[in-house]
Amino acid sequence: MKPTIFMGIEDILLHDETIFKNINAFDPDYLPESYKYRDSQMEALAICIRPALKKGRPINVVVLGSCATGKTTAIKKIFDMVEHNSEKVVCCYINCQLHTTRFGIFSQIYQRVFGHFPPETGVPFSRIYQKIMQHLVSEEKALVVALDDVNYLFHSKNANKIFYDILRAHEVFPGARTGVFAILSDIEFRFALDKNVNSIFIPQDVIFQPYAREEIYSILKERTSLGFYPEVISDEILDEIVERTSESGDLRVGIDLLRVCGNLAESEASRTIENKHLDEALKRTGPASLAHTLNSLSDLENSLLELIINFKDENLTAGSLYELFKKDTGTSYSSFNRTLDKLEFLRLIDTKFTGKGMRGNSRLIILRFSQDEINKCMVQP
Ligand SMILES: Nc1ncnc2c1ncn2[C@@H]1O[C@H](COP(=O)(O)OP(=O)(O)O)[C@@H](O)[C@H]1O
Ligand SMILES: [Mg+2]
Repeated sequence: MKPTIFMGIEDILLHDETIFKNINAFDPDYLPESYKYRDSQMEALAICIRPALKKGRPINVVVLGSCATGKTTAIKKIFDMVEHNSEKVVCCYINCQLHTTRFGIFSQIYQRVFGHFPPETGVPFSRIYQKIMQHLVSEEKALVVALDDVNYLFHSKNANKIFYDILRAHEVFPGARTGVFAILSDIEFRFALDKNVNSIFIPQDVIFQPYAREEIYSILKERTSLGFYPEVISDEILDEIVERTSESGDLRVGIDLLRVCGNLAESEASRTIENKHLDEALKRTGPASLAHTLNSLSDLENSLLELIINFKDENLTAGSLYELFKKDTGTSYSSFNRTLDKLEFLRLIDTKFTGKGMRGNSRLIILRFSQDEINKCMVQP
């Protein structure tokens, strides 16, 4: 007889029963068939691609919205639709976290245009570039390049060159019709983008606002019925997950919780997700995203957040916060406003208009997390 430990592991590997109908439904890059609440954004993107279908140039776009608001999904869906309906537009999606060099990015474009990658060595960039553009012109095809998480190109200082390569192709290759969809998760970079690529890129903005609680509920509910067999998860547990997701403002928190809960239940051979699984999943995924956000703050953002945390009165207005902030840091009003917008964008605070005062000075500032929660994250490494 085999030692029991091996049987245990074999059991885990070969156990047939699963609560997952489709475990991929909880993957970060899962492309859901049904994609709600983004009709107006999809429409705006379609309007920008439309000229390319009619022998014109695509309109350049900045897609702006915080994490997990569906930006990547929208681009992938619209690109799929375009390619199914026309041979005359090449759509190329590029994840700038993975591809940051001119050569790397144009290799991806080359692959979309010719169906295979260029040789990795021996061919200079200019040859690859020329081949792409000549082919597009002679085939009368337009090119739309989506640069997802484009801020990564700022680190390598390649953004300007790459935008220039794509957008000014028509100067060297008359008839070339090219456009860029730049996708940003951080409102701060909206200014950096202008600075980095200045006059060559004059885009249309398409904004993805955060999902409301009911929208989060409906998206997660649908995801559970795609990913789990019926009755694996109760309404109560789903509600709790929706609550946590809505607090974090990040839909991915909810999708991760569903996956981790499912794995924990399955590892105990439980046919349903129980409260204890959710508790454990929260421990594993919970404050990480808040901690991550807090760790990514600049010094200025940190000082402003600290002022807000330490302010004891409930009625903190933007005007009085600015007075305090100016005393501490000497910052200008517009820089203060930008920093405040950033904290709101990251969903660390809410601001509420009271209808009084000038220039939004009477906005009430509301912390979205308790001081305890924030302190807990601050001490984490
Ligand atoms: N409207 C929606 N309907 C269904 N799923 C959505 C929707 N919006 C976002 N998601 C899901 O949320 C996750 C994050 O979406 P994603 O497009 O990657 O966001 P972003 O690129 O803005 O960070 C993905 O799993 C995606 O399938
Ligand atoms: Mg994305």
